[in-house]
Amino acid sequence: MLRPIKDVYASQHFPDLLVGMDTPDDAAVWRIAEDRAIVMTTDFFTPVVDDPYHYGAIAAANSLSDIYAMGGRPFLALNIAALPPDLPVDISAEIVRGGAEKTREAGVVIAGGHTIQDKEPKYGLVVLGFVDPRKMLTKDGARPGDRLVLTKPLSFGVVTTALKQQKAAPEDVAEVIEWMSRLNSKAADLAVEFELRAGTDITGYSLMGHGLEMANTSGTGFRLEFDRLPLLESSKHYAEMGTFPGGAANNRMYYGKSVTLSAGLAEPSEMLLYDPQTSGGLLLAVPAEKINDFMQRASELEQPVWEIGEVIEGRGIEVV
Ligand code: CO
Ligand code: CO
Repeated sequence: MLRPIKDVYASQHFPDLLVGMDTPDDAAVWRIAEDRAIVMTTDFFTPVVDDPYHYGAIAAANSLSDIYAMGGRPFLALNIAALPPDLPVDISAEIVRGGAEKTREAGVVIAGGHTIQDKEPKYGLVVLGFVDPRKMLTKDGARPGDRLVLTKPLSFGVVTTALKQQKAAPEDVAEVIEWMSRLNSKAADLAVEFELRAGTDITGYSLMGHGLEMANTSGTGFRLEFDRLPLLESSKHYAEMGTFPGGAANNRMYYGKSVTLSAGLAEPSEMLLYDPQTSGGLLLAVPAEKINDFMQRASELEQPVWEIGEVIEGRGIEVV
């Protein structure tokens, strides 16, 4: 998601543009019929892991995620790549193959793309999807009493930065690659099946940033239980070592004033709340009366889900 320069667009009004620059959602939505809308998004970034195939797969899963975060179904994509002229051709082929295989897994067709030369590699997708606009997930649908669930663990950033600093154990890298490569498709299916209204995906602005955006837009507060947060087992070790990406400190500076910690958290644990995620899970608000069936159905679909807290009256995020 891009922070928009709103003023440029504020004066324009398009009745079929259901989600655009003036709402902080994950993707743009354009209505084409009462029960059908196009969802559109793009994302690309520099390598997060050493292996080019996995990098391509993660970048693709991450690009597709913003469609899933709206409760949509992606169907068509374009590659966007910036590649150094001296990059061996088999490496760039592996990046694109990783993206292609992940996209195929999602049932999405890559119909073209564009590549330019650049010093540092960048790769991602432009993605189109469909959603029923009457049933889409937005950030403003959370209501006090809803349970908050997360569909992937947290703390990917602290592990991938440890990898960049050559301090990460190979098994920890393998674990985080597996999570980042995972599609949010089943989580989106669950959201649609249970007719959920509020959701987003957790990416660079961390659980606190994306959570606050959802809480603020909904006019509610969130209460999260630290002990219920699905932190990767290895993350405590890396948090102690302080291998956080630069974005973590920025996130804390930016969002920290709206976060209350009543848990007396040590500094490394607190920083994990602000850890930027690449290709993180969905954060969904589930009405309390649906939560048991939701958790049951998630386990049938083998979609991991963690219940991490609830929506409350008020403002900001409270971590207890
Ligand atoms: Co995005
Ligand atoms: Co997003």
